[in-house]
Amino acid sequence: MSPSSSMLMMSKLLKPVFLQSRVVNLAQVLGVPFSSQHGKTVFTPPPARYGGRHTVTMIPGDGIGPELLLNVRELFRFSCVPVDFEVVNVNSSLTEEDDINNAITAIRRNGVALKGNIETNHTMPPSHKSRNNLLRTSLDLYANVIHCRSMPGLQTRHKDIDIIIIRENTEGEYSSLEHESVPGVVESLKIITKSNSLRIAEYAFKLAREQGRKKVTAVHKANIMKLGDGLFLQCCKEVAAGYPDITFENMIVDNTTMQLVSRPNQFDVMVMPNLYGNVVSNVCAGLVGGPGLVPGANYGRDYAVFETATRNTGKSIASKNIANPTAMLLASCMMLDHLRLHDYATLIRNAIFRTMNETRMHTPDVGGLATTSEVVQSIVKLIQENSLHRQTVV
Ligand code: NAI
Repeated sequence: MSPSSSMLMMSKLLKPVFLQSRVVNLAQVLGVPFSSQHGKTVFTPPPARYGGRHTVTMIPGDGIGPELLLNVRELFRFSCVPVDFEVVNVNSSLTEEDDINNAITAIRRNGVALKGNIETNHTMPPSHKSRNNLLRTSLDLYANVIHCRSMPGLQTRHKDIDIIIIRENTEGEYSSLEHESVPGVVESLKIITKSNSLRIAEYAFKLAREQGRKKVTAVHKANIMKLGDGLFLQCCKEVAAGYPDITFENMIVDNTTMQLVSRPNQFDVMVMPNLYGNVVSNVCAGLVGGPGLVPGANYGRDYAVFETATRNTGKSIASKNIANPTAMLLASCMMLDHLRLHDYATLIRNAIFRTMNETRMHTPDVGGLATTSEVVQSIVKLIQENSLHRQTVV
């Protein structure tokens, strides 16, 4: 049975849940961050419209993106979440930029988006820019925030990992400025600016303080890129001086990756330029179980876009009903928190964590045999049980 038809059957069998009272915040118990929206690192979300409902742009993307977002839609519908999605498709094989421009316009209108990853085929001509990157830079989504935290029910080499990664999301190695003026010699520009480095460092320290974190580690390669990474490091040091309550340290990126795989528990909050952020996020996601588990958020002053942390398309596992839906579902919970729909976020997040802590609900990427639909079905059942329990208690 296809994931979509099984979801359809499931939603017919189970009655939707109406939130009637506050639920126990298991996410708080588990220490999941970003549920508090009162801090300064969280920008004001767009107000709800039309009877308290929000409109969110949904970009299905490629590979497993569409099926994962279908899961989110079904779960939201079942949980009666007051969010309507405006679906905008982006065809990654087109050279014209109309699709991505439409998506960007829709996000400007709605303020918030949930997306699957859009494939960037590296055989496309150099003029073809990554649609994901265009979206992030056009909307100035400068802070990519990822929280990699061990889940008790998953077998991983290291336990009790709890690392927040803050990645500068708009410049660095992702400037898309490359040229071959002399044949056989390619220059690829890495842009580091003082204003954007100070901005991301400030974001990292503020978030660290809000979340009661003790240490921020700046990751760099200033020993080789003395000017570019040197400036980034200098900006982090300047900002750190304003946060005497938080320990500041810096680490060269190669040593960082080695330390991460051997002694990850030494890290708390990490801040870094764009490409190192990508590498470190992937290493950390791998440490806590892989790309199917960790959500990611991209924040700017005016807009916020939510997706999976490692932004894979997972093309080879698409339409097989085996993708792990956890990362995308948790991304949707981060989005609900951003919209200040905390009770809904907590309800769904609690059910996800409880499901992931059951070995029989593990999909193949985390060593199990469960299907995507079985995982989502379990989450739906837990949400329903929670609702029935509250109805009998009230
Ligand atoms: P991929 O899509 O091949 O995924 C890597 C591995 O993770 C695969 O084994 C996949 O099956 C597994 N995986 C991913 N999500 C999963 C899930 N939910 N459940 C279970 N397994 C899962 O990754 P790759 O090769 O890095 O990227 C493919 C495409 O995505 C490329 O077009 C690339 O350009 C694009 N991409 C774009 C990024 C961006 O933000 N611009 C970042 C990363 C990839």
